[in-house]
Amino acid sequence: MNNDEHNKASIIVKTPEEIQIMYQANQIVSGVLTLLEQEIKPGITTFWLDRLAEDYCRDHQAIPAFKGYKGYPASLCASVNEEVVHGIPSKKKILQEGDIISLDFGTLFKGFYGDAAITVAIGDVNPQVALLIKVTKAALEKGIEQVKIGNRISDISRAVQNYAEHFGFSVVRQFVGHGIGTSLHEAPEVPNYVQRQVSPRILEGMVLAIEPMVNLGSAKVKVLNDQWTVVTADRQPSAHFEHSVAVSVGGPIILSERSPVV
Ligand code: MF3
Ligand code: CO
Repeated sequence: MNNDEHNKASIIVKTPEEIQIMYQANQIVSGVLTLLEQEIKPGITTFWLDRLAEDYCRDHQAIPAFKGYKGYPASLCASVNEEVVHGIPSKKKILQEGDIISLDFGTLFKGFYGDAAITVAIGDVNPQVALLIKVTKAALEKGIEQVKIGNRISDISRAVQNYAEHFGFSVVRQFVGHGIGTSLHEAPEVPNYVQRQVSPRILEGMVLAIEPMVNLGSAKVKVLNDQWTVVTADRQPSAHFEHSVAVSVGGPIILSERSPVV
């Protein structure tokens, strides 16, 4: 989400029963991403991926959460190469060997949202770009390791930022992760960089969508004229991974964990 929505809203914690529903919502997201990853090959369009995603979602009794959200025109966000997030699926966007694509999908199921994203390579990609994908995925894992009661949100941010920057990559600042529940975007914000101000403590029952966006070159991004597609200012590639994670006494529960598709 955009970095200046709902700064002052309060954090809503969830009951174990609510987290169970959110697990189901996120497992449908996870099923979509696994399906899309299997279908991706040179020659297919991002429009076709959007169709597959929406059909799978509806077949599993969920509503595609992004469709119509603030006027977003599709179900899937499909962001290719220098596109960071919010790429609009199109019949004109044909995937080619050497491309990378970020797939971001959200569901609404029994009143709760699920949200997750992955970046995948189409065939063989430049080794630096393959590293970018690997590091972004690992940066998300480093962030999730900090999801402990008593830590602060900034512990997640720091872990993500330090890991990505260690490889010489940069983290996007204009878009951040977020709380998630009966709204797609709830407090708190989960930035991928350490901010000046003190951030909230992590509490039992919080559910966080942690979503590092990592650029090969500069951190600067801009929004295209379609009002949605976010691209890197230097047009170098960008990767994005996201999980929805619940906070429990036993540690983080990755609600959108990818398990074998059913
Ligand atoms: N995962 C993205 C986010 O949380 C997806 C939002 S796309 C939109 O911001 F179309 F719904 F805006
Ligand atoms: Co999100």
